[in-house]
Amino acid sequence: MYTVVGANGFLGSYIIKNILEMTDEPILAVCLPPVEEDTDRVKWVPGDISDPAFVEFLNKTYLSKSAHNKIVYLAAYHHPDLVEKNQRLAWDINITSLSRFINSVDHLDRFFYPSSDSVYGESVNGYRFKEDDPLKPVNRYGHHKCAAESIVTEYGYNIVRYPFLIAPSRAPGRKHFYDTIVSTLLAGKPIEMFKDSLRSALDFDSAARLMIQLMESGPVPQKLNVCGDEDLSKYDIGLRIADKLRVSRDLVVPISIENAEGIFEAKRASSTLMDNGLLKKTLDLKEVRLVF
Ligand SMILES: NC(=O)c1ccc[n+]([C@@H]2O[C@H](COP(=O)([O-])OP(=O)(O)OC[C@H]3O[C@@H](n4cnc5c(N)ncnc54)[C@H](OP(=O)(O)O)[C@@H]3O)[C@@H](O)[C@H]2O)c1
Repeated sequence: MYTVVGANGFLGSYIIKNILEMTDEPILAVCLPPVEEDTDRVKWVPGDISDPAFVEFLNKTYLSKSAHNKIVYLAAYHHPDLVEKNQRLAWDINITSLSRFINSVDHLDRFFYPSSDSVYGESVNGYRFKEDDPLKPVNRYGHHKCAAESIVTEYGYNIVRYPFLIAPSRAPGRKHFYDTIVSTLLAGKPIEMFKDSLRSALDFDSAARLMIQLMESGPVPQKLNVCGDEDLSKYDIGLRIADKLRVSRDLVVPISIENAEGIFEAKRASSTLMDNGLLKKTLDLKEVRLVF
């Protein structure tokens, strides 16, 4: 059985889609209320993962009764500005709850945790970080991801490091940045996007599919960069969306990361690029591309 914790989020809804498409396993979908309707393969369980009594209930009622458990743990307090502002709450969800969960559940065969390129810090001269490079996060969110990675890997489980992920939202009632770009461009309005801030960006569907492919494989490296081949700015991504919508590229207005003042509160690395060679070797892939 798969259990997805944080199942109704942006990544969670694509993870569920891919488990359904790629396996025959039932899914326990755990999230804060409200939950979606159950289907023949997906059972929704509302609850707060930072509540020890809920974790005990989850384990006793479901996980301990399943002989084999594969967990995708997505619940997080992850907006960098809010992590900075609400440090104790963020620590409680990102570190304490994760540690308690991993140390509480039974019959755990596989546990995958989504970390982030933010653990590496700043790429200098287009350097693409490899999995064993030193970690130098530039903000508290990145430090939380480093601490969470240690908990997961020291316990013997897996982390994947994702880049900036983007795609249409499948999360009920929530718009992703992708959807905002689409609605702005379709309204004929301009949208400003950073031209000089690069990421090894990927779409949510590919990110989810690759995680499930790894979980369905035999032993895989404990730490993997799961990212695209290309070094992309948000401006590049904006142009792709404009092309897809067949609207004028002029609506996508390039701006510099130097003008980010007032947009972000917590510090961001201007560019963070990752090398996906180990991922490609592990899954025997020729290319990994951002697709919408
Ligand atoms: N999106 C990216 O570009 C990206 C890149 C790298 C890594 N990641 C990581 O991937 C994970 C998922 O990210 P996402 O983009 O899918 O974010 P998201 O949409 O906010 O998903 C997180 C989910 O966890 C739920 N959650 C939060 N606190 C919870 C709690 N105490 N108990 C139960 N559920 C809780 C959230 O519910 P509510 O919405 O109701 O709060 C939400 O459904 C995070 O760890 C994030 O750091 C994301």
